[in-house]
Amino acid sequence: MEQTKAKLLLMGRSGSGKSSMRSIIFSNYSAFDTRRLGATIDIEHSHLKFLGNMTLNLWDCGGQDIFMDSYLQDNNETNSKNHIFQMVQVLIHVFDVESDEVLKDIEIFSMVLQKLRNSSPNCKIFVLIHKMDLVQINKRDNLFNIMMSKLKETCSMYGFDDVKGFPTSIWDESLYKAWSSIVGSMIPTIDVYRKKVKKITELMNLKEFILFEKTTFLVVCSSAEKNNDNEYVTVDNMDPKRFEKISNVLKTYKQSIYKLKANNFQELQIPEHGIYIINLNDNLMGFININKPEWMNNNLIEKNLQKVKLMFS
Ligand code: GTP
Ligand code: MG
Repeated sequence: MEQTKAKLLLMGRSGSGKSSMRSIIFSNYSAFDTRRLGATIDIEHSHLKFLGNMTLNLWDCGGQDIFMDSYLQDNNETNSKNHIFQMVQVLIHVFDVESDEVLKDIEIFSMVLQKLRNSSPNCKIFVLIHKMDLVQINKRDNLFNIMMSKLKETCSMYGFDDVKGFPTSIWDESLYKAWSSIVGSMIPTIDVYRKKVKKITELMNLKEFILFEKTTFLVVCSSAEKNNDNEYVTVDNMDPKRFEKISNVLKTYKQSIYKLKANNFQELQIPEHGIYIINLNDNLMGFININKPEWMNNNLIEKNLQKVKLMFS
C-alpha cells in the first residue's frame, strides 16, 4: 500500500485549546486531563500513524505572542522559521470563542494566511470556534455564524475560498465531528472504504454501518447519505449527532477500561438492539446496526460478521 504523509499546522493564540484537542484525539487524554497541560513552548511535533499507510505530521505551534512573532516575522535568509509554512496540507486554526481580543486573533489569522498563500497555496483551511461550552446554548449559533462570516471574508482576501468551520468544545462530542471531517478529507483511499461500506450495508440489509479508526475513534466513513454541504442526511428520526456521540462514548469507555488496567477494548455487542462493534483489522473498527434484530438468527449474524471481517482483512 502506498504510504502518504501529510503536514497539519495547528495554530491559534495561547490558551485557545490546541494542545488540549490534540491530546484528547490522539493521546487518550480525557477533557479533565487537559487542565494539567502547560503552554506549548515553540512547536511540538507529533508523527501520528493513521490507517496504517498515512502519517499525520501534526505541528502544534505554541501560541504565546513571543512564538507567534517568531513564526510570522518577515522572510529573510536568517529566519530559521521559514519552513513552518512550507508543504502544509492542512491548517487548523483555533479561536477561543471567549477571547477578549478578537481583532488581534483575526489579525494573526490573516498573517498566517498570508504566509500560507506564499508557501502552500493549495492548503486546506479549517477553523474551529472553540470552547463553545462557555457560551449560553441559545447564543451559540448566532455567535458561530458571525465569526464564520468574518473568517470566510478574511480567507477569501488571501485566495482561500473554501474554508470549513466547526463550533467545538472538549466537553462534548463536537470535537469528534470536526476532527473526523478534517482527517477524513485527507484519506486518499476513502472511496475504497466507501464502496465496501455501501456493499456490506446492502448485502446485509443493515440499518447503518460506520467505520471508525481504531486508536482515535474518528469516523472514516459510513453508510449514511450526505447532502451537498457534506452533512449527514437525517433519516428515521436517527440522531444527526450519533456519529460523533458514538466516537465520544467509545473513546471514554476505552479510557475507563485502560484506567482500570483491564484488557484492551476489543469488541462490544448489544444483540437486543442489533448493535455489534467489531474489530476489522489493525486500524479499523466497524459499528454495525442490524435491521430488525429480533428476526435474525444468532448464527447467521455471527457468520455475516465473520464475512465482514474478511472483507477488511
Ligand atoms: P499554547 O500552547 O500556549 O498555545 O495554548 P493551547 O492553545 O495549546 O491551549 P491548551 O490546550 O493548553 O488549553 C488551555 C486551557 O484551556 C486548558 O486549561 C484547557 O483545559 C482549556 N480548554 C481547552 N479546550 C477547552 C474547551 O473546549 N472548553 C473549555 N471550557 N476549556 C477548554
Ligand atoms: Mg499548547
